[in-house]
Amino acid sequence: MDTTDEQRLREAAQILSHATQVAVLTGAGISAESGVPTFRGEGGFWRGQSAMELATPEAFRRDPEGVWEFYRFRIAGLEDVVPNDGHRALADLESRSDRFWLITQNVDGLHRAAGSRNVIELHGTLDRARCQACSYRCASAELPDQPVPACPTCGNRLRPAVVWFGESLPDEALARAEEAIGACELMLVVGTSGVVQPASSFARWARSRGARVVEVNLESTPISDVADVSLFGPAGVVLPRLVDMSARDRA
Ligand code: OAD
Repeated sequence: MDTTDEQRLREAAQILSHATQVAVLTGAGISAESGVPTFRGEGGFWRGQSAMELATPEAFRRDPEGVWEFYRFRIAGLEDVVPNDGHRALADLESRSDRFWLITQNVDGLHRAAGSRNVIELHGTLDRARCQACSYRCASAELPDQPVPACPTCGNRLRPAVVWFGESLPDEALARAEEAIGACELMLVVGTSGVVQPASSFARWARSRGARVVEVNLESTPISDVADVSLFGPAGVVLPRLVDMSARDRA
């Protein structure tokens, strides 16, 4: 880190040390150092198709078997994946905050695995599957062994319990995210390209009601325009330093 980076880190730590109500928004970048591919990076392709083309209701209607193959691959890929220092730093930050919300667009479950408690999974989770017709849900580990698993209750197709492009977010997750944005004094935005709604507007909204915004990313994003401070570097390196420094400032 050069002097400017170091100054920015100090400034962000100061802001964090004064905030008792903290909301965090994370995206795929926080899990990159755990080996989970990001969406818009080089790893966002599977058998030549973009992950974003497969994560749609249209793809599932057209080729349910292919979409399930892709998701089984993603679920299996998570078996050996563990949280990194960035996830752990956010769990640590939660334990030091009076009120804390962790809004994530990730479906990998790594924030929960790292010990974060108030996690809002905006895009659902790969841990679970649900029936597309009835209210049946099950753990992905218990899926029937069929190319397109069928619901044991109604016989319809089961699908991963994630949000696909073009679908609305789960009401409960959205309501909790809105509560976080409406109450936080600081919004920390980590590892998201900031191009997918509504998550991309959360920082702007928090800022408009007076919250401070700190961003951690490898590069600048649309969120950089509204951030008080942008910290450029890997989340697994920057977040532990930020959280430690703010804890020392507070002491
Ligand atoms: P993206 O793949 O769009 O963006 C990942 C961001 O993380 C980029 O801005 C990278 O610069 C940054 N990044 C990569 N490695 C990093 C690291 N080690 N430390 C810090 N930052 C890093 O992922 P998302 O913004 O999460 O939606 O994408 C948002 C949504 O679009 C996803 O949840 C998914 C996707 O299509 C659905 O599936 C509905």
